[in-house]
Amino acid sequence: MALDVAAERDVRELEERLLTAVRGHPPLLMTPAWFQQRLLDWATGDPDFRVKLLRFVDVLPALRDAKAIADHVRQYFRDTHRPLVGPASELAGTAVFRPVLSQVVRQGVFAMADRFIAGGTPEQAIPNLRDLGKDGVATTVDLLGEETLSEVEANAYLERYVALIRALSAASGEIAPHGERWQGVPPVNISIKLSALTPHMEPAAPEWVAETAMLRLRPLLRTAVECDAFVNLDMEQYRYKDLAHTAFAEALLDPEFRDYPHIGIVVQAYLRDAELDVMRLRDLAERRGAPFSVRLVKGAYWDEEQIVADQNSWPVPVFTDKADTDESYDRCTDALLDGWPHLRPAFGTHNPYSVAQAVVKSRNAGLADRDIEFQMLFGMAEGLRSAVADMGFRTRVYLPVGEVIPGMAYLVRRLLENTSNQAWFNTGSAIPEAPVGGKSLQRTPSPEPADDPLSRIENSAPAPFFVPNVRESMRAALEARTK
Ligand code: 2OP
Repeated sequence: MALDVAAERDVRELEERLLTAVRGHPPLLMTPAWFQQRLLDWATGDPDFRVKLLRFVDVLPALRDAKAIADHVRQYFRDTHRPLVGPASELAGTAVFRPVLSQVVRQGVFAMADRFIAGGTPEQAIPNLRDLGKDGVATTVDLLGEETLSEVEANAYLERYVALIRALSAASGEIAPHGERWQGVPPVNISIKLSALTPHMEPAAPEWVAETAMLRLRPLLRTAVECDAFVNLDMEQYRYKDLAHTAFAEALLDPEFRDYPHIGIVVQAYLRDAELDVMRLRDLAERRGAPFSVRLVKGAYWDEEQIVADQNSWPVPVFTDKADTDESYDRCTDALLDGWPHLRPAFGTHNPYSVAQAVVKSRNAGLADRDIEFQMLFGMAEGLRSAVADMGFRTRVYLPVGEVIPGMAYLVRRLLENTSNQAWFNTGSAIPEAPVGGKSLQRTPSPEPADDPLSRIENSAPAPFFVPNVRESMRAALEARTK
C-alpha cells in the first residue's frame, strides 16, 4: 500500500533520526573490529577478492597443518594487491614463516566468527545476554548446527535445545530486559531450524516430514510450555519452505499446543511468494483461534537460491533486484499489520527505512508501540539497534551459540550479507541503487561455440517437488498408473 504524503514524511523523518544515530557509532580506528570492517569493505568493493575470501573461510576448517594453510593462502591470494593480504601470500611461500602465518590467519578468521557468534556454549553466551538485557534489549538464542545428517545428530540437537531452554530459564532473572514494554513477553526465547531437528528434509513428502518432525518438536515444545519460553521456527532454503510451514501448522494445530501463543515463524521478503505466505499464515492463525508471531526478514540465502535455481534450471524463487525485495518487505509489512491481532509482528531488519515504515504503518493501523518488535542479528547494526531500543521499541537480538565449524554456514551467510554490494549499509543509502555488477557472486558465462552440437542439448530440469502442484501432478500420475 502506498503511503500518503503525511505518512511518507513521518517515515523519512524517523529514518533520518535513525540514520543520524547509526552514523554516530562507527567502529574505533585500528581496533580488531575496524580491521575486520576494512576486510569486509575490500570484499564488498572487489568481487574477485570476495569470492577468494569466502572460499578460503570455507576451506579453512579442513586444513590440518601450517603448511596446508600457508599453501592455500598462497594459492588463493597470490594475485591480491591488498595491504597485508598480498604480502601474506608471498610470505606463505617461505617455510620459516608458515607457523606464524597460519596462526595469524586462523585467529583472524576465528575472531571474525566471534563477531557473529555469541559463545561456544550457552554458559559462555550468557554474559552477552545479560549485557543486552541491561541495555533493555531481549534475545532469541539459536544453537548452531543446521542440516543434521542422522537421527543421532538430530537427537543430540534436541537434547542441547532442551538443556538450553532450562539453562536460560534458570538465568531468566539476569537476562530479561525490564520495563513496561516487556510485560507479558517471555524472557526465554529460542530460534530453531527444522533441518537441524529433522535429518530427512524430503521436499516431496511434507506430510511425512511434518510427522517425523513432531517426534522432536513435541518434546521441545513441551519443555518450552513448561518454562514459558518462546519458540521461533526459522526459515531456511526455499526448497524447505513448504516443509517448515507444514510442520509448523502440525505443531500449532496439535491440541496440546493449540492455545500456546509464544510461538512464531519467519517470512522471507526476498521470496516472490512472501506476501501470499503472510496471508496464508493469517488464515492459519484464524483457524487455530490463538495468535502467533511472524518475523518478517529480508532473507539470508539469496546467493544460494540463485545458484541452486540456475544449476537445476528452475525459476529463481527470489527477487534478483534488491529494490524489489525492499518493496516486498513493505507490502509484507502491510499484510502483517492487516493480520493483527491474529499475527504478532516482529520486524527483522538492519535497514532504517524498513524500521521507520514499520513504525509509522503500525501506529497508523492503531497498534501500540509495544505490540511490535524489532529484531537484529548479533554483531550487526549495533548503532541501529541502540537507536531503536532507545526510542522505546521492543528490540531483540538473534544470538547464535555454538562452535565455529558447525556454525560455518551461518558465518558464511553473515559474510555474504556484510560484503553484499546491495546491502543498504554498503551502498550508503537507505534505498539501494541498482546493484553494482549485477549478481553478488561473480560468475563467468560459459563459452558456447556455435558449432558444438553439445551446446544444443538442453537438459530437462529435475522436478521441483517443493512446488505443491508438481507434487500433485506426480501423485495423480502415480495413481493413474496403479489403477
Ligand atoms: C540465519 O541462520 C538468521 O536464520 C538466519 O542466517
